[in-house]
Amino acid sequence: MKVLGIETSCDETGIAVYDTHSGQIWQRLYSQIEKHREYGGVVPELASRDHVVKAAPLLREIISEIGTIEDIDAIAYTRGPGLIGALMVGANLARGLAWALDRPVLGVHHMEGHLLAPMLAEPQPECPFVALLVSGGHTLLVDVKAIGDYKILGESLDDAVGEAFDKTARLLGLPYPGGPQLAALADKCSGSRFEFPRPMTNRPGLDFSFSGLKTAALNIIKQHQPLDPDLREQIAYAFQHAVVDTLRIKCKRALDATGYRNLVIAGGVGANRRLREVLETLTAERGARAYFPALEYCTDNGVMIAYAGALRLSSGQCDENIFDVLPRWPLDSLQPIQI
Ligand code: KG4
Ligand code: ZN
Repeated sequence: MKVLGIETSCDETGIAVYDTHSGQIWQRLYSQIEKHREYGGVVPELASRDHVVKAAPLLREIISEIGTIEDIDAIAYTRGPGLIGALMVGANLARGLAWALDRPVLGVHHMEGHLLAPMLAEPQPECPFVALLVSGGHTLLVDVKAIGDYKILGESLDDAVGEAFDKTARLLGLPYPGGPQLAALADKCSGSRFEFPRPMTNRPGLDFSFSGLKTAALNIIKQHQPLDPDLREQIAYAFQHAVVDTLRIKCKRALDATGYRNLVIAGGVGANRRLREVLETLTAERGARAYFPALEYCTDNGVMIAYAGALRLSSGQCDENIFDVLPRWPLDSLQPIQI
């Protein structure tokens, strides 16, 4: 079955086709980052308008590679969570195509797309496992008993990890989205004279709080004006160190609490080199392993939506007459997939 996936939840227009028989993938990805950069963050109205302009031409390119649109057997789109206007662009395109081609269509949960992206690589993680989902909008620790059977173990009470990276990067004068650039600055350094807190690690529980780290960075920056390049690197290093250490402590706790061996990491911050290293070491010490998506599938893309949609559509799920998007949509409200 060839499944078309359409991702438009935020500032990336991702269109992809995943073939469940051959595993073959066709994809196009367009990032709106340049459009939003001058505003220092995503402007929802601009995002929706740009998806309208880009989605159909990207789809046309893929279809001309595949040969004919008739080869598409089913359609998946991101139904939520995300920006309402942006989501509606993808939903409209998906629904219109499904109607015109008379194909099944399914709205996919964006975070399930992220969570399943590591399954596109070999070896595939096997359930049950603990998933750490770290993106610009979410920080979640999830007990994954089976695909679709999710229990939230912990989440951020304020800023998501990616958001904390981006806000701190902005304080350091880096352009939006500064997460990867802050990480690159931090990686230039081998130590720091600064020590940031590890929020909420000195009490039990699996929730997170990252907004205090940005304030800690702000205070140091104010005290050390003008910042020279070495100080910026040291602040970036201390920030990244504290975030990664906090995530490591909570992942270890989640593995202890569930008794599971394996850890799956996904979402944009899953591309972070230091996070990968530290969580690989944590799981190796326990005789287990950490599973990450390929770097290109860490941040938003259409392939993860086509893949998650394909798993659900192959198990017989599809939406009948629903036409809605869900800007807020709890991950643990999904139906397990019957395989
Ligand atoms: O998953 P994603 O593409 O979008 C959301 O669903 O939110 O994640 C984007 C986030 C941004 O905050 C970006 O700064 C962050 O992931 N990010 C990183 C790195 N690469 C992307 N943060 C830290 N280190 C990285 N290497
Ligand atoms: Zn995402």
